Order: sequence, then C-alpha cells, then structure tokens
Amino acid sequence: MYDYVYHNTTKIIFGKNSMNSIGKEAAAYGKVMLVMGGGSVRENGVFDKTVSSLKEYGVEYCQLWGVKPNPDISKVREGIEMARAAEVSLILAVGGGSVIDSAKAIAAGIPYDGDVWDFYSSSKAPELALPVGVVLTIPAAGSESSMSSVISCGETNEKLSCTAECMLPRFAVMDPQNTYTLPEYQTACGAADMLSHLMERYFVNTECCDLTDRLIEGAAQTVIEFAPKALTEPENYDVRAELMQTGCIAHSDILDRGRGNGGRGGDWASHQLEHQLSAFYDIAHGAGLAVIFPAWLRYVSEKSPSKPAQFGRRVFGITGLSDKDTAFEMINRLEAFFKAISLPVRLSETGIDSSKFQLMAERALAAKGGKIGSYIPLTEASEIVKIYSLAE
Ligand code: NZQ
Ligand code: ZN
Repeated sequence: MYDYVYHNTTKIIFGKNSMNSIGKEAAAYGKVMLVMGGGSVRENGVFDKTVSSLKEYGVEYCQLWGVKPNPDISKVREGIEMARAAEVSLILAVGGGSVIDSAKAIAAGIPYDGDVWDFYSSSKAPELALPVGVVLTIPAAGSESSMSSVISCGETNEKLSCTAECMLPRFAVMDPQNTYTLPEYQTACGAADMLSHLMERYFVNTECCDLTDRLIEGAAQTVIEFAPKALTEPENYDVRAELMQTGCIAHSDILDRGRGNGGRGGDWASHQLEHQLSAFYDIAHGAGLAVIFPAWLRYVSEKSPSKPAQFGRRVFGITGLSDKDTAFEMINRLEAFFKAISLPVRLSETGIDSSKFQLMAERALAAKGGKIGSYIPLTEASEIVKIYSLAE
C-alpha cells in the first residue's frame, strides 16, 4: 500500500430534513449566487425550498439559470461576470454534476485575472476560489464532494477537467427526496457513472489494498442492487438514499487512497475515452460509460484478467472458471446490468459511428500528456481506437 494523505472537508448534510439547513450554512458566507440548470429544480420544488431557507436566514441572492448537461464554458463566463457585478461571497449549485462543475468553475474564475478556460486547457490549477455550496439533485458525478470540475468548450469540441483543492465544496445538502423526479434515463445514467467511479479506482496493479478493494466491491453491489429498484420504485426513500450515499462515497476519494503512487490510485482511461464521446456527441456521461467500460474491460482482460476476475468472483459471485473466463463472464454480467436499466452498451445504439475514433483517440492522449490509464497504460492512439472499435 502506498503512502497517502486524505483530506476531504465537505460537510455532508444528508436526509429528509437537510433542506432546512441551506440558509444557516449559506448565512456564514454572505450574499449568494444560485446556479441552476434547465428548470427541473423549479418544477420539483427544490428551488422554492432552497430560496425559502435562504430567506429564513436573511441571505441575499442572485440567480444564474441555464447550465446545460455537459456544461459549456460560455455559461461559466456569464456566471463570473454576474457574480463579480453582484459581489457575491458564495456560489450555491442547485442541481447535478453539470451545475456543480459550472459553479466550481465560476468560483475559480472570479478571483482570476485571465480566462477561466486556462485552468482546463493547461495544467495550471487555480489556487483561489470563492466558496462553493451544493444542493444535490442527482446521485451520479460525485462532484458534491470532489475537487474536480469538468467543462466543455463547444466551439472546439473539447471536454476537459480541472482538479484543485480550492474547488472542494464547503457543504453539500443531500435530500434523497429531491431525486424522486429524476427521469428513469437519468437515474440509470447516474448509476452507471457511480459504478464507473468505483471500477476506475478498483482496476490497479497495486498489491495489498484489500480494504479498499472490499469497500469498492460492497459499494458496487449496492449500485447493482438498488439502481433497478429506483426505476420501479422512484419514490422509495431508502432506495434513493442508498444511491445518493453511494454516489458521494464512490467519488469522494477515500476509496482510492493507498492504491497508487502519490497516494491515489485508479485507471481512469474509460473516463478519458468517454469525455471525448461527450465532447463530440450529445451523449450523457453515464450512457457513454455504459458503452465504453465493457469495451475497455474486454481490451485489458485479454492482457491482464486477474483483477477483473476478482471483481467477477466477489461482486457477481462467479465460480468455477479460469481468471480469463471469469473476467469475460463478469463483463457479460456488467453489460446485462446496464441493459436491465435500459442503457446502451454499444456505440451503434447511440448513433455514434467510427468516423471520429482516430481524432478522439488523439485528443484523449493529448489531454493527459500522451498516456492514459494505469492498469494497462495506453500510449498509442491505435490502442484507443481498438477500444472504441470493441464498443461499436
Ligand atoms: O438541467 P436540469 O434542469 O438541472 O436537469 C438535469 C439534466 O437534464 C436533470 N436533473 C437533475 N436532477 C434532477 C433532474 N431532473 C429531474 N429531477 C431531478 N432531481 O438531469 C439531467 C442531467 O444532469 P447533470 O447535472 O448533467 O447530471 P450529472 O450529475 O450526471 O452530471 C454530469 C456531468 O458531470 C461530469 C460529467 O462529465 C458531466 O459533464 N462529471 C463530473 C465529475 C466531477 N466533477 O468530479 C466526475 C464525473 O466523472 C463526471 O465526469
Ligand atoms: Zn464519471
């Protein structure tokens, strides 16, 4: 096990009464800019509850609406201007990963003299950001307690990430009841994303990480058990609560400590390949992962089936097969899970053809300095094209 530091200071306020805490938490900072998406929080009452809690504590606020899924840098720039003019002290995201990631980018852009896209298009990470708070409405990206933000630039078909400690949300209000209105497709995409965050961390070559292996396996089983239930019982509090808690823990970094050099371990090639898909095509991140992850697993299991086999035995209970056969049976069962929650498992189901495989492969490598992944490091565009081809 590698040396590591673990430091996650997001205050998680979870449960049926958590929405009442928003005003009290926000009042500690001063004037607030609320950031929202396309309107789901207006329809399901989350916005009204947020505002009513702010009013109860006399917190002033302005509003930025219209963050789109796979959020664009143009809305971030608009938010920075609005926040500067209104002289706010807290950016409060009310929504999912796209809204939270935009709030983080706005928070980092406000004290910065240059263009905020610099933080995404180069390795220059922000050192300063306004405080960010979160009212989470979809368990998926885990952005509510992560240091990362992922933003797209539609003009150049880029989707890039920025990781900085100053972007870590100060608090996250998580009421599972706020997820009752999620469309089935978004519930399923969220499940695929959180399962992917677990698997990305799982597939490392490090020995002696048995505790985190088993925590990841348990969390993966929770997703596999509860995601289908959320589709048939969308207003079952306990089912929604299990998913919301898992989505947060899956990406809060505790599960990758000690698993890699520098303290954190994980593969993340599937995420890099997916980010190219959602940069070029209108595809939800979770749906893209449901297509890419099995293809990546097929590619790496040919070369190194031991860890996928362990996942197959412990998570899916597969017995009596060789490592390689267990790995491939596990991939079949993973695909069956994605299909059972009505997600695509092939690019052909999403309307994406092979015309941009080479370009996406080159972009994926360029975004990470010429090497992605660690379980089986990928350094050649041809290897990545092969994975996209396995997903066709
Ligand atoms: O636009 P609104 O009205 O908010 O509607 C959203 C959106 O259409 C809707 N929705 C959210 N909560 C709802 C709801 N509809 C009804 N009831 C509710 N309670 O769901 C749609 C998707 O929302 P989005 O925020 O895009 O979803 P998600 O949380 O999956 O975020 C995806 C983004 O996060 C990035 C992804 O790349 C993608 O851009 N990621 C961020 C990460 C991070 N910051 O650490 C890590 C992840 O791996 C991921 O890359
Ligand atoms: Zn993800």
